[in-house]
Amino acid sequence: MALIIWSDKLSVGVRSIDEQHIVLIDAVNELHAAMMKGQGRNILGNLLCTLLVYTRNHFSAEEAMMETANFPGLAQHRIQHHELAKQVEEYVERFKQGDLTLSNRLSNFLSDWLTNHILNTDMEYGPWMNEHGVC
Ligand SMILES: [Fe+2]
Ligand SMILES: [Fe+2]
Repeated sequence: MALIIWSDKLSVGVRSIDEQHIVLIDAVNELHAAMMKGQGRNILGNLLCTLLVYTRNHFSAEEAMMETANFPGLAQHRIQHHELAKQVEEYVERFKQGDLTLSNRLSNFLSDWLTNHILNTDMEYGPWMNEHGVC
């Protein structure tokens, strides 16, 4: 079973962003499934790197959207993205060094990291984007 299941509760009200979140959720689910199947380090490492690339691209897209719409919460949101990306980068680095094995702990961290950010922070820009006609 998938670790995170998309539902309308996770919708931020901006379709293009919801689509990107679904891609991120799929990437976390794929990593979790590969880990549960006991896939090798190369496959897991590639999935982890893919997740990091998707994350960086998504954060850049969200920040560009908020900037275009002059969203007042951009600066705070950007700080959170920076911290979140740093956490994933640290996991990737530790995995590369061999001092991290992928475990349920990592899957749970990624799952919480993503859903908490969507529910608590991304949700804040939805009404603004809809009012300012950016989506
Ligand atoms: Fe965000
Ligand atoms: Fe997001």
